[in-house]
Amino acid sequence: MHDLGRGLSGGEMIMMGGGNPAHIPEVEALWRRRLEEILARPGAMETMLGDYETPRGRPAFLEAMAGFFNRTFGWNLTSDNIAVTIGGQAANFLLFNMLAGPDGLSARKILFPLAPEYIGYASQGVAEGMFTAWKPRIELLGSHEFKYRIDFGEIGPEIAAICLSRPTNPSANLVTDAEMERLAAMASERGIYLMVDAAYGQPFPNVVFKEVKPLWNENIINVFSLSKLGLPGLRTGIVVANEEIIERVAVMNAALVLSTSSVGQVITRPLFESGEITGMCREVIRPFYQARSLQAREWIAQAFDDSLDYHVHVCEGAFFLWLWFRDLPITDRELYERLKARKALIVPGSYFFSGLEEPWRHKQECIRVTYGAKPEALRRGIEILAEEVRRAYGQR
Ligand SMILES: Cc1ncc(COP(=O)(O)O)c(C=O)c1O
Repeated sequence: MHDLGRGLSGGEMIMMGGGNPAHIPEVEALWRRRLEEILARPGAMETMLGDYETPRGRPAFLEAMAGFFNRTFGWNLTSDNIAVTIGGQAANFLLFNMLAGPDGLSARKILFPLAPEYIGYASQGVAEGMFTAWKPRIELLGSHEFKYRIDFGEIGPEIAAICLSRPTNPSANLVTDAEMERLAAMASERGIYLMVDAAYGQPFPNVVFKEVKPLWNENIINVFSLSKLGLPGLRTGIVVANEEIIERVAVMNAALVLSTSSVGQVITRPLFESGEITGMCREVIRPFYQARSLQAREWIAQAFDDSLDYHVHVCEGAFFLWLWFRDLPITDRELYERLKARKALIVPGSYFFSGLEEPWRHKQECIRVTYGAKPEALRRGIEILAEEVRRAYGQR
């Protein structure tokens, strides 16, 4: 993780590691327009910068979000079902530690039903050992593709909530509607929560390449973020949940940050009210990432020998390609070091298996590649990767 930050400022590294949204000119023009509109309206900038907000968010923004989700998905939310946080990361931190952790003599856990999961969850438990995970089933598709499927197990009394990102960071998997409905049913049956982290999901930024249906009920907590729209600097996350959870998020917000950050709410509110955001996601953001993902996949097919035992997870959304090198004689971390020495940065896959304690060779056979880098750099990075993987297989 430290290397990712260093690489960003280093300039010469080929960055295939982080999850930064791409700088898309049409999208940046929209933010510029909104800032100009705010500056032009008397008093708008002054209240945006100069006033504290409630610990749950700006009332007008909460109303706008409830209306937006209701129109988009046919949900029946009111503004009491919405809370703003300082980013999706903060929302997950608050929710994990609100729902799980030490509870009298027992410790309650968060279950990741499909490992690998988002690296950013790994250190979010205030207590030790707060996470557990199910090992996925691997479905091979063609000679060089695969998809993870949830291998459903029992949900024991120690589980406080089930959590997954959809689409999944790192694997770009979209857990299917049938899998989601089964998880939601399990959560309802046990009276626990299903947390869905939609950082890349519908309806914004909508980096989703397959039709799936987001779910909502009293046992589901959806977490959204403005970051992957191209606004990570604004630190705005949005929690959609039942009123009790929302009230508890507000209390934690009040203790931790006093007030929510207004800028993201003020910039985006009219875009949610008019629905303009939906068009921008559908017509600009999603096609941008889909084209990049297909291009990267093509370069991989060109650069890697067909005879190598490599497999790419089907890319159904998010910003990543997840590669699995079956029986690679070196570990993911050794591969990472070799690539770094050649100035190409990826993320070793073994970091993404938080909560999955059992030994499994697969954990050391995967890497995550971000395909949002500049095309020429990405192409070169993929060539370097293919050379190093070929060399590593040759060491057998
Ligand atoms: C799956 C997932 N969840 C949450 C986050 C956190 O995003 P933010 O705090 O910027 O909203 C990220 C960021 O990369 C992510 O990939």
